[in-house]
Amino acid sequence: MLIKKKTGIEIPSSEITPHSIYLNRRNFMKGAAAAAAGSLLAACAPGSNDPAATSTAVSPTIAPPTAAASQTTGGAAAALPPRPEADELGDPLNSFEEITNYNNYYEFTLDKEEVAQAAADYPTSPWQIEVGGLVQNPGVYDLDALRGFDQEERIYRLRCVEAWSMVIPWLGFPLAKLLNEVEPTADAKFVRFETINDPDNMPGQRSAWFEWPYVEGLRLDEAMHDLTLLATGLYGETLLPQNGAPVRLVVPWKYGFKSIKSIVRIDLAADMPRSLWMAAAANEYGFYANVNPDVDHPRWSQGSERRIGERGRRRTLMFNGYEEQVAHLYDGMDLRVNF
Ligand code: MTE
Repeated sequence: MLIKKKTGIEIPSSEITPHSIYLNRRNFMKGAAAAAAGSLLAACAPGSNDPAATSTAVSPTIAPPTAAASQTTGGAAAALPPRPEADELGDPLNSFEEITNYNNYYEFTLDKEEVAQAAADYPTSPWQIEVGGLVQNPGVYDLDALRGFDQEERIYRLRCVEAWSMVIPWLGFPLAKLLNEVEPTADAKFVRFETINDPDNMPGQRSAWFEWPYVEGLRLDEAMHDLTLLATGLYGETLLPQNGAPVRLVVPWKYGFKSIKSIVRIDLAADMPRSLWMAAAANEYGFYANVNPDVDHPRWSQGSERRIGERGRRRTLMFNGYEEQVAHLYDGMDLRVNF
């Protein structure tokens, strides 16, 4: 099945692997309620616990300046055709083990290699996402409703702001499909996302370093772009807690911190949301956070990156290699100012 292009944005078939996979017939059900609706977090940087780390003068660290055996997706995985071994650029996929054992999830721990264990028992069902704000049709989406959207497999590069990257076969559906359901009003210009707030079970949220819960945002046209995915799985399997189960955002042309995990709220808004990282260090982590090798982080270069599983470094691509699809979104904008 070819991907539906409701947004009118042309995606080369090579971009979506393989042509998007039809897993479940859409069985949309709104939740019955239909409610009205810098130096701190070395965990995110190549560090001493990272055998593949390349030493740099300043270790990239996402921080304020001061500072497999999982359930299959309801049998749907059986329907997956053979998966290519590489993305459309010829870059091999990272392994399931790499993707699920090297994570950033500050709600649990600052140590990337400890996240999987720390988050292992986190309950991700039942779950619901409340969608509201400037919309005609607010609602609450439970897991059945979310999985009712046609699930597609898409192989995307994930590029962390700290200059490491992976290639990941996500399972999910375009965020635009959900946004079209709720019908943003004419005043809606931005989308604000919020992670679950659960300090009793997420030890990181008891730390005062950040304004919890984790918040991220997109401009509405970015959110409606067909590349922007709500992921419910990877490698054909239901998402594990460490990767942001049960549902997380994936915006492949932006630094990984935009791809917020374990979402419980989505609000359409007139004003630009303030993300957790903007609140922590606006001079280091901007709202747009587009992957850009020409705009360095104040404390390290963004010109190259370390692909997990590879030796050495590789050149970072503009918009993480998705320039053809997304550059027009930023026509006329100074990407050094709007970083
Ligand atoms: N979302 C939440 N709620 N909390 C986080 O700490 N880390 C971000 C992003 N989403 C993060 C988050 C960062 S910095 C990155 S690079 C990606 O998740 C990593 O996703 P992964 O662990 O699935 O590779």
